[in-house]
Amino acid sequence: MSAVNQNQLSATEINPLASLDEWEDDLLKRYPEPDAIATEKSKEAYRNYNEPVRDTVKEFYRLNHTYQTYDFVVQKRTDYLKFDKKKMPVWDAFEFLNQLVDDSDPDTDLDQFQHLLQTAEAIRRDGHPDWMVCVGLLHDMGKVLCLFGEPQWAVVGDTFPVGCSYSDKIVYPEFFSNNPDYSNEQYSTKYGVYEPNCGLRNVHMSWGHDEYVYHIAKNGLPEEGLYMLRYHSFYAWHREGAYDHLLDDHDRKMLKWVKLFNPYDLYSKNPTPPNWIELRGYYEDLVAKYLPAELKF
Ligand SMILES: [Fe+2]
Ligand SMILES: [Fe+2]
Repeated sequence: MSAVNQNQLSATEINPLASLDEWEDDLLKRYPEPDAIATEKSKEAYRNYNEPVRDTVKEFYRLNHTYQTYDFVVQKRTDYLKFDKKKMPVWDAFEFLNQLVDDSDPDTDLDQFQHLLQTAEAIRRDGHPDWMVCVGLLHDMGKVLCLFGEPQWAVVGDTFPVGCSYSDKIVYPEFFSNNPDYSNEQYSTKYGVYEPNCGLRNVHMSWGHDEYVYHIAKNGLPEEGLYMLRYHSFYAWHREGAYDHLLDDHDRKMLKWVKLFNPYDLYSKNPTPPNWIELRGYYEDLVAKYLPAELKF
């Protein structure tokens, strides 16, 4: 995955993944079936998984777990949630996102928009409400962070709360010992900077495309859809059941919606692109219904 203005010399060190899809392909190894939620068998298969792609994913998580500190997250939120980077009509934003091209394998990987469209179409096919179709279409828009020069580890990867102790349900928990917060007196405690059961809305998540797209879309979509956007990569929660001590009843109510969305994201990839000519009218109306004419980044 190449960001527009990234320094090629250090690219593999900063960005170990050949493409952002490598992270998502790895998720399929960890969660091979919709209902294979943390069974011992699937965990074992994951631990034994030993192909070359593994090392880049592991290196990616080493960087992610090392550098996603509480201070880093606060700094990124301050910077990006000003929304002073770019203003674009929605469809221009999809084109902008598609500038993320895969250097390693341009023929077999679908572009970003095709993944969004396939996710949306799978949701629509199953008869879910149209706002959820819109969530499918939008859910990875936050990956434009790459185009603003962010390293992969600050764009994709499983997300997790910062400012409190890390769950061992997060993938590669051993890498957290490299994170300065790991030995911070306050951040290394169970609740850290948070109150018991304070609700996820009061918790800072590691910075990435989920949190960013949530803020981009938060005025147009229903709460259930916003949870899908904001927590779709929080696997330690929605697949592994961790962090109950930070949840409130509202989070617990919303969990089923996050779980409902996840299989469409993971299992809808298909090598045949949907017929955009036929679908265009529907999606133009849908976007006009739920999103502002211009998106602010
Ligand atoms: Fe995503
Ligand atoms: Fe996705």
